[in-house]
Amino acid sequence: MDNTVTVIDNRTEKQYTFPVTRGTIRAMDLRKIKVDAEDFGLMSYDPAFTNTASCQSKITFIDGDKGILRYRGYDIADLAEHCTFPQVAYLVIHGELPTPEQEAEWLTAIRIHMGIFENIKKFMEGFRYDAHPMGMLVSTMAALSTFYPESKEVRNHDRQMESIHRMVGKVPIIAAYGYRHSKGLDYIAPEPQLGYAENFMHMLWDRSPLQHLKHPVLARALDVLFILHIDHEQNCSTNAMRSVGSSEADPFLSAAAATAGLAGPLHGGANEAVLKMLDEIGSKENIPEFIKGVKEGHQKLMGFGHRVYKNYDPRAKMIKKTADEVFEITGRNKKIDLAMELERIALTDDYFVSRKLYPNVDYYSGIIYEAMGFEPKMFTVLFAIPRAVGWLAQWQELINDPEQKIARPRQVYVGHEYRKLPDSYARGTGSEERLASAR
Ligand code: ACO
Repeated sequence: MDNTVTVIDNRTEKQYTFPVTRGTIRAMDLRKIKVDAEDFGLMSYDPAFTNTASCQSKITFIDGDKGILRYRGYDIADLAEHCTFPQVAYLVIHGELPTPEQEAEWLTAIRIHMGIFENIKKFMEGFRYDAHPMGMLVSTMAALSTFYPESKEVRNHDRQMESIHRMVGKVPIIAAYGYRHSKGLDYIAPEPQLGYAENFMHMLWDRSPLQHLKHPVLARALDVLFILHIDHEQNCSTNAMRSVGSSEADPFLSAAAATAGLAGPLHGGANEAVLKMLDEIGSKENIPEFIKGVKEGHQKLMGFGHRVYKNYDPRAKMIKKTADEVFEITGRNKKIDLAMELERIALTDDYFVSRKLYPNVDYYSGIIYEAMGFEPKMFTVLFAIPRAVGWLAQWQELINDPEQKIARPRQVYVGHEYRKLPDSYARGTGSEERLASAR
């Protein structure tokens, strides 16, 4: 088979042949298509990058039609069943699962960074008691950049790894302190020797009436949820990480941008929005009315639909399974019955079937988080903790990719042609008339 594509430009009747590599043509090849020498050349117009690959990546593979998700070639279900979060985080960053020695070194490198400066605590104390934890996380992530100026040496491999260990160590601490702050409680220092998820629960609930939530089964469930959320290739927040990182901003600033992207309800914020939606629906009898409203365009069925998956999101399947293990300890969260009925009705309705809208990762995760004692406003933070690993892996891949440059999309300008300034402005800013109108 000839791995090329031939395009005929009907404006000029000229023919162009371009190589096809891994199902793509180079967008820059299109620029060779010109009507005359003055012409800039053809561009593709792709709002929201629905059909544009912005990088080559070895990290995550998704087949959206078949519902497949793999990190570094390993199936997500195998990883979630047999590995711990730090092992999978190592895999995503380094490309291979760790040997026992590598795992010990990795854990030590992260644990060394499990602490934050007193100034960062004071910085966090400046937030109002009702500040949203995602806002606190975005700002504190950016503030970390001021504490570690050496992270700006983004091309230095040792510095890259130092920033990675530092961020993986500190994100759960910032997340936990944000939670404690919103409760008006003092901060609890990390216990680095505990498991990653276990330590997070310790920082949230030690010495509190919620101590019982530090249950090993729940810690393992959170570990699994963390694994499921590590990476998901070029989604909105990862694209922000790469885009900002391409300017050689340090990884803390880039991760602050990525965290902001995650906060939106169409992305990571959907888990919080699902709970709000279920609360608004209230009971099963109200589902048909709600679905009618969705079909009429009044609202979205949150936690449904995905840019890439046109089949069941494999993470949603595993989350549903984890729910049973969690409920055995915490008791059943009644919202799961409502969510399952809503899913059942949606998946028999032509509106959702014809558009291939299925539950995504956020549909069931909030229900489990709530059963585990987390409040809805913490849900997206629980997403950000593991996703920081994915952002860092993608950032490192970007920085070390010789083909990458500063991200700078083109636009199609559709505004005014040249216009002359109105006379009243053309007279200059110092004119008496202008000064009088400014007064
Ligand atoms: N409820 C109702 N209708 C929907 C939904 C939904 N959740 N999702 C998509 N649709 C409809 C759209 O209105 C559109 O209909 P149309 O063809 O009649 O205009 C059609 O399905 C195609 O949807 P798009 O908007 O083109 O899909 P897109 O890929 O741009 O959006 C997104 C994907 C943002 C995830 C969307 O499905 C959505 O808003 N879902 C709800 C929010 C959500 O759960 N987000 C979490 C995603 S997972 C994650 O980020 C971690």
